[in-house]
Amino acid sequence: MTAAFDRSFWEQRWSQALREHGDAVAKRPPNARLTGAVADLAPGVALDAGCGHASETLWLAARGWRVTAVDFAASALAHARSTAEAIGADVAERVEWVEGDLATWTPQPGHYDLVLCLYVHVAGSVAELVGRMATGVAPGGTLFLVGHRPVDPATGAATPAAGQVQVSVDDAVAALDPALWELVVAEDRPRAVGGSGVDAVIHARRRSHPVGRDG
Ligand SMILES: C[S@@+](CC[C@H](N)C(=O)[O-])C[C@H]1O[C@@H](n2cnc3c(N)ncnc32)[C@H](O)[C@@H]1O
Repeated sequence: MTAAFDRSFWEQRWSQALREHGDAVAKRPPNARLTGAVADLAPGVALDAGCGHASETLWLAARGWRVTAVDFAASALAHARSTAEAIGADVAERVEWVEGDLATWTPQPGHYDLVLCLYVHVAGSVAELVGRMATGVAPGGTLFLVGHRPVDPATGAATPAAGQVQVSVDDAVAALDPALWELVVAEDRPRAVGGSGVDAVIHARRRSHPVGRDG
């Protein structure tokens, strides 16, 4: 039987994690793949899709970004909101917390300078989710996706992401029209943090002007 990584699963998982080590969760550093890739971008408007404890949202907001942070786990959002308030009013006021289901939640078209979606289980089609998130990126903006692959290619063993469907390089690349998107990175990379196996890392820039569509 396939495990259901649905709202109730994540709500229970967050409730337990926050009950048992809420302080540590609040202090988790932002994802180094993301921070390395976007540190030089001028602050703008960002979407953190599936933000969880929101380390990346808070890192961006502290650097001057205005962030829409979406998750369907209310306990994670409540914890993240109180972490933001503890950091300071300037950070807290830059974040809009949205309790929403990414199965249907759709970003405002072309609105965001940066859309990130890190380690989110996809209940439906990965290509469809990637395509829907990509519609939110403004011309010249950045799409940054990371998915923990379920099998470690070095050993063939199941990883902690086994049973989940997360972003893969093939599905993401298939969803991004090369006339509209420049791929900066699209490859599996060894995991820099805990857990075995590799991460699919997709860093793409939406072209300001589509290519190859003259005439
Ligand atoms: C493994 S956590 C990753 C959290 C964060 N992005 C990070 O990198 O640390 C996955 C998050 O995705 C959220 N999530 C999974 N499916 C979702 C959906 N359909 N809609 C909204 N949030 C979802 C979960 O609630 C959880 O907070």
